[in-house]
Amino acid sequence: MSIKPLIGQPISRLEGHLKVTGAAKYAGEYNVSDLLYGYVVNSTITKGKIISMNTDEVKKIPGIVEIFTHENRPSLAWFDMQYSDMDAPPGSPFRPLHKPDIKYNGQPIALIVAETFELARYAASILKAEYQTEAFKTDLEANLGEGRKPQPGLATMLKPPPPKDKGDIDLALSAAAFTSKGTFTHGTEHHNPLELFATTTVYEGKGKVTIYDKTQGTVNCQLYVGNVFGLHFKDVRVISPYVGGGFGSGLRPQYQLFLSVMVALELKRNVRVTLDRSQMFTFGHRPPTIQKTKFGSDINGKITALYHEATAETSLYEDYTETVVNWAPMIYPSPNSKMEYNLVPLDVFTPIDMRAPGGSTGLHAIESTIDDLAHQAKIDPIQFRLLNYAERDESVNRPFSSKELKQCFIQGAEKFGWDKRNPEPRSMRNGNKLVGYGMATGAWESMILPARAEAILTTEGKLIVKSAVTDIGTGTLTVMSQIAADELGLPLDQVTFEYGDSKMPFAPIQGGSFTVSTVGSAIKAAGKALRKKLLKIAQHIPHSAFKGLEIEDVVFQDGYIRLKLDPSKEIAFTALIHANKGKVIRTKNFNVPNLLKLKKHSRAAHSAAFVEVEVDEELGVINVTRAVTAVAAGKIINPKTARSQILGGMVWSISKALREETISDHNFGKYMNQNLGEYHIPVHADIHDLDVIFVEENDEIVNELGSKGIGEIGLVGMPPAIANAIFHATGKRINEFPIHFDKLL
Ligand code: MOS
Repeated sequence: MSIKPLIGQPISRLEGHLKVTGAAKYAGEYNVSDLLYGYVVNSTITKGKIISMNTDEVKKIPGIVEIFTHENRPSLAWFDMQYSDMDAPPGSPFRPLHKPDIKYNGQPIALIVAETFELARYAASILKAEYQTEAFKTDLEANLGEGRKPQPGLATMLKPPPPKDKGDIDLALSAAAFTSKGTFTHGTEHHNPLELFATTTVYEGKGKVTIYDKTQGTVNCQLYVGNVFGLHFKDVRVISPYVGGGFGSGLRPQYQLFLSVMVALELKRNVRVTLDRSQMFTFGHRPPTIQKTKFGSDINGKITALYHEATAETSLYEDYTETVVNWAPMIYPSPNSKMEYNLVPLDVFTPIDMRAPGGSTGLHAIESTIDDLAHQAKIDPIQFRLLNYAERDESVNRPFSSKELKQCFIQGAEKFGWDKRNPEPRSMRNGNKLVGYGMATGAWESMILPARAEAILTTEGKLIVKSAVTDIGTGTLTVMSQIAADELGLPLDQVTFEYGDSKMPFAPIQGGSFTVSTVGSAIKAAGKALRKKLLKIAQHIPHSAFKGLEIEDVVFQDGYIRLKLDPSKEIAFTALIHANKGKVIRTKNFNVPNLLKLKKHSRAAHSAAFVEVEVDEELGVINVTRAVTAVAAGKIINPKTARSQILGGMVWSISKALREETISDHNFGKYMNQNLGEYHIPVHADIHDLDVIFVEENDEIVNELGSKGIGEIGLVGMPPAIANAIFHATGKRINEFPIHFDKLL
């Protein structure tokens, strides 16, 4: 008898029912007694100083408990310290209510605390500040000349600097048979997860708090609160089991967390601070970026030159960076290459990672330029990519741990019907609409970080595994349960995964598509240690059939340890508990990846995206009518939740290429569409036929699971595939995202 492994099965998410019935509680929904409500007031100027505020007047409103500003906020040692958080870029963090100084438009300048939410919100509407204004700069394009190299720092560990120059780029470009040059612009984007940022702080008595926070990192927030308020870490508990989307916005502790905890400690009360939708545009964004590419090839289409330069926005107080320009020499071998990345500090909040940070920006420029080069050389875009296929990563001179991109091309093209493409632009029609087929490659680095996990065999012989990790809606609970269940050979209903709580064993922030690798590996390690412990206990039972055996000699199946060669020799998990004097059996493991070993290989997930667009030439309307994304991301633990991730990335690709942007008025230094009415994202009518393929890819290097991560790869290749399809339909290459129809007319 053997149990079918759960890894690889399309299991529906275990918390799905709780979420769709409203039973799952989010950070701003915990009912705690005697609760105060905080509402944030934001700066209406971009730079300068607060001179005065009408706080005395507003405080007279019955039901207003307190108004916190820079004038009466508690003095904290932190205001003079450098401590920030696990995901902080180099620099000095933003400190809410620190000083009267205004660093960006929308900066929180006061927190109204009231007996009801409505009252706090009303009072916020009449609290006014007098400012002394100063000149500011928020326009990247107008300040491009001020680009400079980023400062190095700890957070840049996962974001390597551009690779070294190779050969002579100028000579190679001048000698190339075909050259393509482009300037690519990306505007600001805001994450806008459905769940608003909120923190409910429960005041537990002297210096002790329990915090329900919307975050992608419970431990990150625990350490932040402990450090900022000078509390013992054990007195700070951050709980976040359900998260209504993050996309990167919750990688760092946000200001509502600071304000909620500050008030709870000051007033010794329970406090909730919830931001509204417009305030979701006041704490981090995908930075606007301007890129230049110059690629060249010989007469046969073999690439000879790669030049890629990007200049991005950051704040004046932190150097946020992305991996934008590292990809071209990894994907395409070239004897000559040069990559440059610069930052322009502006009067804005520090940008923060947003789904596929850097990769989705850089690959847009790279894959559009490659498409143009293929077009010039009159080579099919897939053939062109095969002709320039990297069998090893020449940007860092290492082999790939695995790379099935070729299969992505083959299987994706087949499913899409690429062979029906007439290479000539403007040659395909459907009625009065121009039809275009476009494709592009995607890549995303497969990362892994250290993490801890605990595995416990309960007195009933069931398994509990624990990790502080969150589940930002990706299916983490389900996938971790599958991994744990397989380790002990138990069915899913015998396994409980406890998570989303800083009290649980350490997990890093959830992001970078590294959660399955990172936390999954820790769970595997804890499960393996538990199996060894169980075998040891089995061997100590009198007349044990397992004496002298190794872990390889036995199997764990359905609540029993069995002899591999003679499964009739078995012992029940419950008997092991009995032998353990009726006590639970537990093991905690810290999985630290062997970075020296891992560094011998380049590790990345790849994808090929295929898109069909229809363009109404009279109206300029662009419709993505069909798309296929083929993904090579190692072992797919759960094809259902994984497919969901890729589909989400594909919808976002349509958003990125055609809809989404935060529009600034640089006369005011202010975002002008801070609401979901004017911040356009796709609606159902924009989404048609989307298909996902996972190609088989075995990787024994990335981690023990062989899993590369699928959270971001769906958003990397498809945006340029859309731009390439629009070129094929119309003959017009639009390098500015989002592509609005006015650019086509
Ligand atoms: Mo993702 S941008 O790493 O949450």
